[in-house]
Amino acid sequence: MKITFTDISAAKNKSDDVMIFAVGEDKKLSPLAAALDKQAGGALGKALKSGKFTGKRGQVARVTPPSSVKAERIMLAGIGDVKKLDLAALENLGGAVVPHLNTVGAKSATFMVEGIKGLAVSLPEAAARIAHGAYLRSYRFDKYHTKMPADEKPTLQHFTVALAGAKAAEKPFAELQKIADGVFFTRDLVSEPANIINPETLAKEALKLKALGVEVEVLGEKEMAKLGMGALLGVGQGSAKESQLVVMRWNGGGKGKQPLAFVGKGVTFDTGGISIKPANGMEEMKWDMGGAGVVIGLMKALAGRKAKVNVVGVAGLVENMPGGNAQRPGDVVTSMSGQTIEVLNTDAEGRLVLADALWYTQKNFKPKFIVDLATLTGAIIVALGTSRAGLFGNDDKLAEQLFKTGQKTGEEVWRLPLGDVYDKQINSDIADMQNIGKDREAGSITAAQFLQRFVNNTPWVHLDIAGVAWSKKDTDIVPKGGTGWGVRLLNELVSEYYEG
Ligand code: BES
Ligand code: ZN
Ligand code: ZN
Repeated sequence: MKITFTDISAAKNKSDDVMIFAVGEDKKLSPLAAALDKQAGGALGKALKSGKFTGKRGQVARVTPPSSVKAERIMLAGIGDVKKLDLAALENLGGAVVPHLNTVGAKSATFMVEGIKGLAVSLPEAAARIAHGAYLRSYRFDKYHTKMPADEKPTLQHFTVALAGAKAAEKPFAELQKIADGVFFTRDLVSEPANIINPETLAKEALKLKALGVEVEVLGEKEMAKLGMGALLGVGQGSAKESQLVVMRWNGGGKGKQPLAFVGKGVTFDTGGISIKPANGMEEMKWDMGGAGVVIGLMKALAGRKAKVNVVGVAGLVENMPGGNAQRPGDVVTSMSGQTIEVLNTDAEGRLVLADALWYTQKNFKPKFIVDLATLTGAIIVALGTSRAGLFGNDDKLAEQLFKTGQKTGEEVWRLPLGDVYDKQINSDIADMQNIGKDREAGSITAAQFLQRFVNNTPWVHLDIAGVAWSKKDTDIVPKGGTGWGVRLLNELVSEYYEG
């Protein structure tokens, strides 16, 4: 979808299919809308009075325009309480109108940003966020539809935001567009089926970031065996595809400056292995590479906007398959750290992959911090549902920064505890640890506890994104499917606290 900004004065005479006006809960028309209302014999005012329209955010009312207007329709979009229009709310506002525009078959639309009193952000910033939200919502993953009926195809191709001094919105929007590029890359990777995205092809996708100046190195099984990565390799040994470790570096900060590190679980398909999962719903496990997908998309966003910071992204890529060479429940593997692990359940594989990826990252890069992302446990969905990711960590400051950034971006996190009582749960009778707890209690915490044994004293946060990486329903800025959750959060974390 194409996005442009134009001056209000020019927008009045545009011949777009739809012209959108914002209306608050006071149900007052903006100056321009009020002028049109006069010409239309009070049709806009009438639409506000009749029906269910209260001006709440997300609501729309449709009006037939006066003959003086070239647009085919007028839409009134509720913006709710202006005081609550923060950046995330503005994005949601832009996103929420997109499905309405597609419903009426609009190819082009202009959102008039005028007469909104009491905005907490500048007008250009508000316009850029509305546009960003619309763009994020316009995402589609429909490449495998070969015969979609015309009436199911989205019609909207061009979204314009009109404001006084439109030029000033272009720069903030260009920056947001780079972030959206990262989000869309993640959504694409997560949405692809596992016969297309496997460890080898996902590594190839990451290699494409070289074009943006990212250094990308891919380690294969031989190299990983040399490094002693027995935990990661054990998971992939039942697969016909070679396991990979992708190491991406963006050097936008000063030379020698300590990098930030992001590490992702990239299980391109999780059958459970020999501890095989039930057939029902197993197809969802194509997005078990969601953590790696976010790390790759984040690197794209950071490189795209030339972030002034050094960042390392590491993705552990494996396919967890049963088979003649698969690892068995009860196997003992030795991780790169030297610690041994009794694999009691081959379906608790993400932590095995991360154990080696985390150790490798802290040992090689001595980063300022590590944030890992993983669709790690079903238990986190039981605990938090699909609106927040679980956060665990050994560093209060980093945890707090992520919490605040979550509130700001709308990609929210909720912290859960770590501690000795949980840690004991993963002691093994015959090895240094086992890969599942002694019972089913606190499954997300014992998983995080396992990861903590591979980070030493590096400030570290683990985000369990099993509930947020995929969505079964549309939200304002995220169409159902792969969400790209985390790219915007982590980009903002970097930009707000660690850049420059
Ligand atoms: N990939 C799954 C976790 C998951 C479940 C992600 C649902 C997204 C949606 C993970 O590898 C897994 O299978 N975890 C097990 C752990 C158990 C064996 C201790 C789980 O959550 O059941
Ligand atoms: Zn699993
Ligand atoms: Zn998994």
